[in-house]
Amino acid sequence: MKNEIRPIKMAIMGAGTVGGGVYKLLQMRKNEMMQRAGTDIEISKILVKSISETRKDVDASLLTENFEDIINDDSIQIVVEVMGGIEPARTFIRRCLNAGKSVVSANKDLIAVHGRELLDAAKENNVDFMFEASCAGGIPIIRSLKQSLVANDITEIMGIVNGTTNYILTKMDQEGMEFDEALAKATELGYAEADPTADIEGLDAGRKMAIMGSIGFHSRIVFDDVYTEGITHITSKDIKYAKDMDCVIKLLGIARNTPTGIEVRVHPTLINKEHPMASVNDVFNAVFVHGDAVDDTMFYGRGAGEMPTASAVVGDVIEVARNINGGCLGRFGCTCFKELPIKSIGDIESKYFMRMIVSDCAGVLGNVASILGNNHVSIEKIIQKPAGCDKAEIVAITDSVQEKNFKAALQTLNDMSFVQEISSMIRVYA
Ligand code: NAP
Ligand code: HSE
Repeated sequence: MKNEIRPIKMAIMGAGTVGGGVYKLLQMRKNEMMQRAGTDIEISKILVKSISETRKDVDASLLTENFEDIINDDSIQIVVEVMGGIEPARTFIRRCLNAGKSVVSANKDLIAVHGRELLDAAKENNVDFMFEASCAGGIPIIRSLKQSLVANDITEIMGIVNGTTNYILTKMDQEGMEFDEALAKATELGYAEADPTADIEGLDAGRKMAIMGSIGFHSRIVFDDVYTEGITHITSKDIKYAKDMDCVIKLLGIARNTPTGIEVRVHPTLINKEHPMASVNDVFNAVFVHGDAVDDTMFYGRGAGEMPTASAVVGDVIEVARNINGGCLGRFGCTCFKELPIKSIGDIESKYFMRMIVSDCAGVLGNVASILGNNHVSIEKIIQKPAGCDKAEIVAITDSVQEKNFKAALQTLNDMSFVQEISSMIRVYA
């Protein structure tokens, strides 16, 4: 008699944008799941805050408001966490792992802070904890770093990992909008959330960089280690001057494994228009990875949204199902076997774009150059333009220098009577 493979049962915690997409995608693939995963996958419960809310796409009979319905159901082997936030997600995931259930999560806020604890718990309980959707939505970057590129010493992970801010900067660049107008447009189209702080202040991207850096460099980076600076101070004038210098401005996440430690930061950055990252526009994300064996690689796609994010979550679910079938759950725990130091932002080296208004009189440009030079800052490019009423605008890009030296030069310049305003300071990717 043929041995019948019993379907694997799973629960979804959260039925919002991502949870709804996961449900839909699993329905779409239902008839081929046996071939793709080696087993059927059946959703038995969906946890939400309120079951009274109407959800047109999910089977209402599966909804519950009680997590105990999931944890006490021994037939459930996989739990997808797409609720978001730290608590109760952290406690629920811990309890699922301790109960021998594998977990798939999209929760970057949680993983960027408590990733090690959750991976250790998965390993101890011989189950899987996967989180492909936590970074760059539909782009398969976690599995690429953890598996396909594991033979490399990865020295750089750099990318545009927030769609909302990339949309805003694209509108400012291509349509000359100011920040507020572009943010309003992003909100109208549903890209920016009602409270856009995490996106526009670089926090969302910072969490993703902490997760990707930890995996790429095999050394734990938590969100607090990441220097974050948002895009609210970027003006259309900065973008125009950047263009004059053959650059575009992007919110870049940059993680580097250097001989003196790890640097990990998110900030607006000028990048040469010839770099492939410069043409990643609208809500698209891209991640560039440099490894010693593979050299440069780049991953591009949709970093958010119902179906792209569901693609990553369901990919993980299928992988867990295969592992259950193959009897090889818990193959990967935490892969951070090193403890590398994290560099402070003052110790990083970068080129800088600066824009300032000065008095338009003899000797000013020379004084600016001397102050920069006294602080070991050399100038790569400089433009001076009249700014009306005996004022001039100086726009410059420096050579590579330690940030503490550049900041000291700016401080001295700021104290000079001939400097009326330091309008911008933006790092340049090099
Ligand atoms: P969402 O639309 O706000 O949905 C959250 C869901 O979780 C809702 O169904 C909500 O229930 C439920 N929920 C929240 N707190 C709960 C609690 N304490 N108990 C039970 N249910 C609870 O969020 P989302 O956009 O789908 O995001 C989910 C996760 O995916 C987040 O971690 C997010 O960072 C991550 N993510 C999202 C995207 C994206 O494009 N949206 C992309 C990548 C990663 P109700 O329906 O009853 O309110
Ligand atoms: N808010 C994020 C973005 C999507 O705009 O890219 C979720 O990671």
